[in-house]
Amino acid sequence: MARHLITSALPYINGVKHIGNLIGSMLPADVFARFQRQQGHEVIYICATDDHGTPAELGAAKEGMDVAEYCEKQHRIQADIYKAFHLSFDHFGRTSAPQNHELTQHFAKKLMENGYIEERVIKQFYSNTDGRFLPDRYIEGTCPHCGSDRARGDQCESCTKVLDPEDLIDPRSAISGSTDVELKETKHLFLLQSKLQKDVENWVEGKALWPHLVKSIAKKWLTEGLHDRGITRDLKWGVPVDFPGYEEKVFYVWFDAPIGYISATKEWSDLQPQQRNWESWWRGADDVTYTQFMAKDNIPFHTVTFPATILGSGEDWKMVDFIKGFNWLTYYGDKFSTSRNFGIFTSDAIELFPSDYWRYMLLSRAPEGSDSSFTWPDMQSVVNKDLCDVLGNLVNRTLQFSIKRFGAEVPEAGAWTALEENTLKEAEAALAEFKTHLSECEFRKAMASLRHLWVLGNQYIAEAAPWDAIKQDEPRARAILNFAMNYIRVIAIASFPVIPESSRRMAGFLNVEIDPYQWLGSLAEEMTALKAGHALEKPEILFRKIEDENVAECEARFGKNEQGKTPETMTA
Ligand code: MF3
Ligand code: ZN
Repeated sequence: MARHLITSALPYINGVKHIGNLIGSMLPADVFARFQRQQGHEVIYICATDDHGTPAELGAAKEGMDVAEYCEKQHRIQADIYKAFHLSFDHFGRTSAPQNHELTQHFAKKLMENGYIEERVIKQFYSNTDGRFLPDRYIEGTCPHCGSDRARGDQCESCTKVLDPEDLIDPRSAISGSTDVELKETKHLFLLQSKLQKDVENWVEGKALWPHLVKSIAKKWLTEGLHDRGITRDLKWGVPVDFPGYEEKVFYVWFDAPIGYISATKEWSDLQPQQRNWESWWRGADDVTYTQFMAKDNIPFHTVTFPATILGSGEDWKMVDFIKGFNWLTYYGDKFSTSRNFGIFTSDAIELFPSDYWRYMLLSRAPEGSDSSFTWPDMQSVVNKDLCDVLGNLVNRTLQFSIKRFGAEVPEAGAWTALEENTLKEAEAALAEFKTHLSECEFRKAMASLRHLWVLGNQYIAEAAPWDAIKQDEPRARAILNFAMNYIRVIAIASFPVIPESSRRMAGFLNVEIDPYQWLGSLAEEMTALKAGHALEKPEILFRKIEDENVAECEARFGKNEQGKTPETMTA
């Protein structure tokens, strides 16, 4: 039995996330966690909201709320949505939790002791109108690179270039809009990442199995050279800096956020201290395999800066083994945009269609090799073809016909013919592929293998045609239905990591339960699990088709690309 530590990049607290966020970090991690649990491994799957930073403060200000209350509310909203998508976090914590305050201060102390933190006096924008310093997003202006007038002090949203506040042309306060701002001296703590360059390089060098996307981004940052980085800010909301003279400052959000992976595990452990030991996952945990999931913008922080923090601590903290990075999911080839009302929020998505439609669709179109474009006609096609016409058809046709002709119980088995033997042989291969792809976090390939498993079942029932067989050979018709039902049970178990709700429903029709900690044995054996006479439940329609009218409605409501480009031409 192996031990798997799994984390999804922590979503910012401010506001409900788009479906791009779901496929870029949470959903694949959930599938991986469910799969590893089924393999009998010990799994802990951790996520949390990233509560600090200027987006939280600005979000609260916009709603006229106290920041702590705002975060509390937003945390609950996000937690409910992830539950609706059946994300099986062992814990969904918060970086504003006391555990994270404690650990963040611990890391800073160690880094200080080891000579990796230094105090520096720097110049920062101060707003005379607002009577305060303006860190990061509190200062806006015109981008020196692309001319966008909405660039922020830390980054230009339009051309994505990283900025220093002094780079901005015509700087202004994001709070009041006031241009009465001036550069003033103030002291901050700096993490001396330049001194850790070699350590990080050596560590990255050892990661032979990292995907190309991840490795190339890490290498690019290392080649450009690690810069010392300010890790404190003039803000009230955040982890207080517990060094003398820093009473008015907090740690920078990107310093405390990744520590949240550890502290959220501690939150989980603190809830049941007798049974759970967070340190066994994080200290000297050589027996643990740690896999992180994230979109590409997060890769530098996880391959370079957070590792620098850990290495600089000189302590035996568990470091990531495998990083699964994703490209962007676009909406009709364009960036998701809240302000232009372009794209889909997870809250809207879950009201429109059941979570499994999204899970299967998004995983089938996971932006792995390149960016991937979401369109409503593509969603319709994936749901209607794969879920309705293949999987739903197999399940509903088999069960309805059998119950109608032989009552609500599993009919007698019969000798397998070449058709059954061949189906099983191919299914065995598809299942083995599915397993390999999932253990390697190749989600598109895994979905193709899973679909193949469904197709084999659907082809079987079409070819064996019990509705014809019953006319000359009733025992054969029973045998076919027995085989098909056992095959449906196998599919329900195999599909569970991807479409857990539908798997449970399929199993429910067969009056069996899915054990989340149990995978399949040899198919020859599994195919005899349901015996003749085993009572069946009344099946319901498993999946419903998405109609053309639904597509038109969604396009009208969520916007679409004017040129009406097809997904194929949009996918880079
Ligand atoms: N909140 C960040 C984002 O959405 C991700 C933080 S990941 C962490 O881009 F590890 F730093 F927490
Ligand atoms: Zn720019």
